[in-house]
Amino acid sequence: MLRPPRVGDAADIWRIAKDSHVLDTNSSYAYLLWCRDFTGTSVVAEVDGRVVGFVIGYLRPQSPDTVFVWQVAVQRSEQGRGTGTALIRQLLDTVAPHGVSTLETTVSPDNPASIAMFAAVARRRGARMTRQPLFDPGVFPDRHAAEDLYRITPPNQEERR
Ligand SMILES: CC(C)(COP(=O)(O)OP(=O)(O)OC[C@H]1O[C@@H](n2cnc3c(N)ncnc32)[C@H](O)[C@@H]1OP(=O)(O)O)[C@@H](O)C(=O)NCCC(=O)NCCS
Repeated sequence: MLRPPRVGDAADIWRIAKDSHVLDTNSSYAYLLWCRDFTGTSVVAEVDGRVVGFVIGYLRPQSPDTVFVWQVAVQRSEQGRGTGTALIRQLLDTVAPHGVSTLETTVSPDNPASIAMFAAVARRRGARMTRQPLFDPGVFPDRHAAEDLYRITPPNQEERR
């Protein structure tokens, strides 16, 4: 079942992020705030009453037709079953009636699973996916891989930065 997150889901989301060993683990407080204030642009996947995956995002303040996916993850035992793409699809379907047609996210070049998942979403929607450098390692105060900006835009939509 896919649904918007509740405050009570924040601990599970934090755990999934931490256990991924891929995502930055944000503070537990950050996930609590997300589950309180960004429920319209976030989705959790629940199996047998347990949260097994999530996507958290926000509408870009300077570009409210764009939803930015901050983090998406599926717990290891549930990966490869279409949950990741289902979460992104649900997010896009939720925001589409509000005029949101573009998705942005950043992915490190060494994350083929994530790149494949976003490519699958774009392909199935007949949308275009572009990539450009956004944050190089030098702008991070700690050791961090580069983050490339991926944009998924519907066909015929003009590219904007
Ligand atoms: C990225 C992630 C969310 C994908 O979730 P998932 O539920 O396994 O994804 P899906 O089952 O919906 O698969 C989507 C597509 O990605 C492909 N894919 C999934 N894992 C893959 C992998 N390890 N390598 C290559 N392709 C992969 C699938 O084959 C599928 O493509 P297809 O439809 O063309 O066959 C999951 O791997 C994850 O949680 N990773 C750790 C956290 C992370 O990296 N998050 C993204 C950070 S930006």
